[in-house]
Amino acid sequence: ATPLRDLAAAKGKVMGTAVTGSKLTGTYGDLAGAQFSSLTPGNAMKWGSVEPAQGTFNWAEADQIVAFAQAHDQLVRGHTLVWHSQNPSWLTNGTWTSAQLGTLLQNHIATEVGRYKGKVSVWDVVNEPFNEDGTYRSTLWYDGLGPDYIASALTWARAADPAAKLYINDYNVEGVGAKSTALYNLVKSLKERGVPIDGVGLQAHLILGQVPSTLQQNIQRFADLGVDVAITELDVRMALPADSAKLAQQAADYKAVTAACVAVTRCVNLTVWGFTDSDSWVESTFPGYGAATPYDANYAPKPAYNAIAEAL
Ligand code: XIL
Repeated sequence: ATPLRDLAAAKGKVMGTAVTGSKLTGTYGDLAGAQFSSLTPGNAMKWGSVEPAQGTFNWAEADQIVAFAQAHDQLVRGHTLVWHSQNPSWLTNGTWTSAQLGTLLQNHIATEVGRYKGKVSVWDVVNEPFNEDGTYRSTLWYDGLGPDYIASALTWARAADPAAKLYINDYNVEGVGAKSTALYNLVKSLKERGVPIDGVGLQAHLILGQVPSTLQQNIQRFADLGVDVAITELDVRMALPADSAKLAQQAADYKAVTAACVAVTRCVNLTVWGFTDSDSWVESTFPGYGAATPYDANYAPKPAYNAIAEAL
């Protein structure tokens, strides 16, 4: 069968997956290399991974994933520079003035984006800035720097690699609603201010049977603002155990999301958050749920895999 990456390319799309660096051998590596044209490090580029102690850097897994991507003619989505989660404890436990916090963030962005300049073509610069009601999430960054931490981070990322595409990424922003409208208004105002913003990431951590009916309309309204859109972390979780009816519904859900992206020219990348059920965050994060990815834990393609292929 034609690999997903080739089907996607024929539609002008990039097909991606999140990966774990240590697993990129054997069947996992073969599938990651053959089926996908973009890799997102699942954890390897987060601040807590790359700078576990202040001034002590660990780039091993991130470098490994970038090298694998280059060897397989794949893009890398850098994930993520500014987030409230998975930060090192020296950072979260520290007491910082606003000026110190700004300097820490600027240096972090310059260091990480600078290291991968020309190698990481897209960055999720800011991850998960909003609450469900569309207000800004209270975080280390928002509380210390105010809402303009977002504009500052984008500006610093642009300075570090002018060619990289810069995204804001969030979850529960797939359909039209309070949270996605807050993101829409933010992107609109950033564009009006001349702040560098190239795209919006819709994570799409979905629950079986709950693809928002307004997904395509929502993708289109972001595209109409003049930014690209990516589905960045697609998975569709179900209550375990899986059965054939649930797997069929999951296939329909994957197909609907894929078709919505295919329908909008500026939806440029469709990335799954792990391609095999053996490498998914779902079971450990949502007790009782799982089987969320297109391949089962033994690397057999599920109906969801065929559904993506059919919609591409
Ligand atoms: C998840 C990883 O997959 C897990 O391995 C880790 O324990 C927690 O983070 N939204 C994001 C991703 O933007 O970074 C998260 O990744 C999943 C939710």
